[in-house]
Amino acid sequence: MATTNQGSARVSTLDRQFGHPSGVMGSVIEHKQLHQAAVDRLLLAQEDNVLEIGFGPGTAVKLAARHAGFVAGVDPSIEMVLQAKRRNRSAIRAGRVQLQRASASTLPFANETFNVVHEINSFNHWDKKESGLMEVLRVLKTGGRLLMVLRQGHSSLESDLEMLLGSLARIGFSQIEAERHQFGHGGVFVTARKPRSCLTAALIGKGAQSSMTQITCPSRSCSSSANDLAATT
Ligand SMILES: C[S@@+](CC[C@H](N)C(=O)[O-])C[C@H]1O[C@@H](n2cnc3c(N)ncnc32)[C@H](O)[C@@H]1O
Repeated sequence: MATTNQGSARVSTLDRQFGHPSGVMGSVIEHKQLHQAAVDRLLLAQEDNVLEIGFGPGTAVKLAARHAGFVAGVDPSIEMVLQAKRRNRSAIRAGRVQLQRASASTLPFANETFNVVHEINSFNHWDKKESGLMEVLRVLKTGGRLLMVLRQGHSSLESDLEMLLGSLARIGFSQIEAERHQFGHGGVFVTARKPRSCLTAALIGKGAQSSMTQITCPSRSCSSSANDLAATT
C-alpha cells in the first residue's frame, strides 16, 4: 500500500509538472518542451546539414542529431561547449555532431555550408546581432531555412523582434514569418529562408527600386549586375 501511495504521488507530481510546470523541475520540463517544439518545427531529415548557434548545454543539438545527418554548433562559452560535448559525446565520436567555440558574428564555416540554421533563446545574447544575421545568410545554402526562437519574459523581446524582422528583410532573407508560441515562458518563432538567388535578395532588400550599377549579395558569395536586375523588372 505504501508503495502504491508513493507511486501515485510520483505520478501526480509529474502530471502536475507537465500541466503547469513550476520550480526547478518545471523549468527543466518547460525547456525540454520548447527544445522539442523547436526541433519538430525544423522537420529535419537525414540529408539535412544543421547549424545551431548558441547551443548552451547542447540539449537541442542532441534532439536534432536524432533526425539530421549532421549537426554543427557554435557557442562562445567554454563551459557550455564542454557541457554540450559531454551530452553529445557518442554522436561526436560517430562524426555526426561537431561543436566548437565561436560567436554568431564570426562563424567558422565556408559559404553555403548548411541547409538549416537555428538558434534558441540566444539571439538576445549576441553582441553583434546584424553581423550575426549576415553570417547566417552567408553560411546558409540557397533555399536554406532559418529558425530563431525568441523568449518571452526577457525585457528586450519586443525590441529584439522588431530589430530581427527589420534586419532579416534588409539583409535579404525571404519568406520571413513570426508566430507567438506558448512553450516555456512563451515567445516567438521566427522563420525565414535564403532566397533562391542573390538577385532576389537584392530585390527584396532594396524594394526593387535599384538604380545601382552593381548589387553585392550580403552573403558576399556572389553578386548580381544591374543588367540582371533590369531583366527581371
Ligand atoms: C540562454 S542560453 C540558451 C542556450 C540554449 N540555446 C538553450 O536553449 O538551452 C544563451 C546562449 O547563447 C550563447 N551566446 C552568448 N553570446 C553569443 C554569441 N555572440 N553568439 C552565439 N551564442 C552566444 C551563450 O553562451 C549561451 O549558451
